[in-house]
Amino acid sequence: MLLQPTLETLRLRVAPVDPILAPAMLDYQIRNRAHLAPWDPTPGAQFFTLAFWQSRCRLRVREWQEGRCASFVLQARQAPQQVIGTVSLSQIQRGVAQYAMLGYGLDQRCEGKGLMFEALQAVLAFAFDDLKLHRLQANYQPANLRSAALLARLGFQIEGRANQYLFLDGAWRDHVMTALINPNFDASDML
Ligand SMILES: CC(C)(COP(=O)(O)OP(=O)(O)OC[C@H]1O[C@@H](n2cnc3c(N)ncnc32)[C@H](O)[C@@H]1OP(=O)(O)O)[C@@H](O)C(=O)NCCC(=O)NCCS
Repeated sequence: MLLQPTLETLRLRVAPVDPILAPAMLDYQIRNRAHLAPWDPTPGAQFFTLAFWQSRCRLRVREWQEGRCASFVLQARQAPQQVIGTVSLSQIQRGVAQYAMLGYGLDQRCEGKGLMFEALQAVLAFAFDDLKLHRLQANYQPANLRSAALLARLGFQIEGRANQYLFLDGAWRDHVMTALINPNFDASDML
């Protein structure tokens, strides 16, 4: 099985989620509680505990081993002990689909510097060149202008709108649906 690699960019380490990172993941979530709340599920009672993040990290490792998900954390090269963001390729489908869902979040203090754009360029290359996926999908709430701009800059195309698509922050939220196709997909890799 392919080992989930650490991706290196100019300013970032984009590292696989690992249980050793659970304290840093918890710290990231606590620091960004209000910032992430509008775009995430309402946290359960255990969400802001170390035990939850240890268990969540173990699950993400298992999902990678089963070929279902690739979850990364973002760390500044200058301060790698802190988690400053997350990126996931989830719901990986093989067979005739060969697609995945892209998700991401960035520390509020790190917005406006092009860091997520930098991280996602590396993750998209990994998804297409290493995982050999054909298509990535990413959906955002219409009010999420930063997410919309990020996806547009990466070349994602709007494909439609899904009414009441996800139950986030206590209500069903409409989403804009976008996708990016791998221009170099080789169908013989599937066979
Ligand atoms: C969505 C999110 C990741 C976008 O973060 P971001 O920092 O705006 O994204 P980018 O990495 O594309 O950076 C773009 C910004 O950096 C600026 N920038 C500075 N240097 C840059 C560089 N070298 N390259 C690119 N952009 C740069 C751009 O001008 C832009 O700033 P502006 O919007 O103030 O003009 C972030 O807002 C977030 O985590 N939000 C909460 C969670 C969330 O919404 N998740 C997604 C749910 S769908």
